[in-house]
Amino acid sequence: MKALILSGGKGTRLRPLTYTGAKQLVPVANKPILWYGIESIVAAGITDIGIIISPETGQEVQAKTGDGERFGARITYILQDQPLGLAHAVKIAQPFLGDSPFIMYLGDNLIQDDVNPFVETFKTQHLDALILLRTVSNPSAFGVAKVDEKGRVLQLIEKPKEPPSNLALVGIYLFSPTIHEAIAAINPSARGELEITDAIQELLNRKAPVEALQLKGWWLDTGKKDDLLEANRIILDTCLQISKNGEIDDNSQVIGRVKIGTGSKILNSTIRGPVVIGDNCHIENCFIGPYSSIADEVILKDADIEHSVILQKASLIGIKQRIVDSVIGQRAKLEPAPQRPIALRFMIGDDSHIELA
Ligand code: DAU
Repeated sequence: MKALILSGGKGTRLRPLTYTGAKQLVPVANKPILWYGIESIVAAGITDIGIIISPETGQEVQAKTGDGERFGARITYILQDQPLGLAHAVKIAQPFLGDSPFIMYLGDNLIQDDVNPFVETFKTQHLDALILLRTVSNPSAFGVAKVDEKGRVLQLIEKPKEPPSNLALVGIYLFSPTIHEAIAAINPSARGELEITDAIQELLNRKAPVEALQLKGWWLDTGKKDDLLEANRIILDTCLQISKNGEIDDNSQVIGRVKIGTGSKILNSTIRGPVVIGDNCHIENCFIGPYSSIADEVILKDADIEHSVILQKASLIGIKQRIVDSVIGQRAKLEPAPQRPIALRFMIGDDSHIELA
């Protein structure tokens, strides 16, 4: 069995972060989203992994993730010239996939459940496709399944205006090589993409064995800022291992589950977990409240932060108001104005969003 992880696409919903990087590399609890998927696939015993990359962000994904050694896997990178759809990604991966059955994993999805039981079900039932479903409040934003009273899939529709149910397709699928024939038989959708949802519908039309399982645990599609903060909150709540490698002075208090990386200094500050702080950070006269992730080399002075994600090399100095529910991009600087007139001065990237108190 092989795996195909999709890490191409445009990532427009996480702008401005995705102007300078791949959305699948945006960290959740200081680890790229993509890596959670890789780890979960490897834990299910699948180590031959193809990753779809785009011309814009592919190099960064490849440089950061490597050849798979750190995960105990072998990674093959497959360049998709344009984001022409999930089924198009499968099509161009065909030389890598060969005749192998495979798990397809969307690189911006995070699930609580292990994928192993899904892989086992797929194998023992000799299916052509196994899909995962989860109830959502906004089904129009997803692929949606219509199922009968026994939970068997009757129909799948991509982003329907009038959804037939609130059961969304989770971005994790298992396929036999029959999917390639189904993909060859479909046409691009109204949004110009070859939809994997349509390919699975094609399998259903052919009466091929397609089953659905409902996810029990949480599922996050980290498409937007609030999804990212929610993913961060859940991972910090459930997976954070305490370790304190940095230097914490006597005037500081570190309470609850906190992870501090090597070379970081905590001076005259209170850190109330769950919080993760990366390597080589400088934190002075600060309060860092629950559900915050501070990446490597961040500088925080005289700042109060809670339920926020601060990315690498950002610096926040002398901010008088508490910062909550925020995502601060790499190398971003927030600091007091150096001279009069006292005023707000901005140099903000495109598509940024700032809420002033
Ligand atoms: O997250 C679950 C949803 O994912 C499903 O409910 C939908 O049925 C499915 O179509 C998909 O919808 P999205 O609109 O969320 O897909 P998105 O364009 O965000 O792409 C998902 C991932 O696949 C993302 O990591 C980017 C990557 N991708 C996407 C396209 C269109 C590629 O690698 N190549 C592509 O051509």
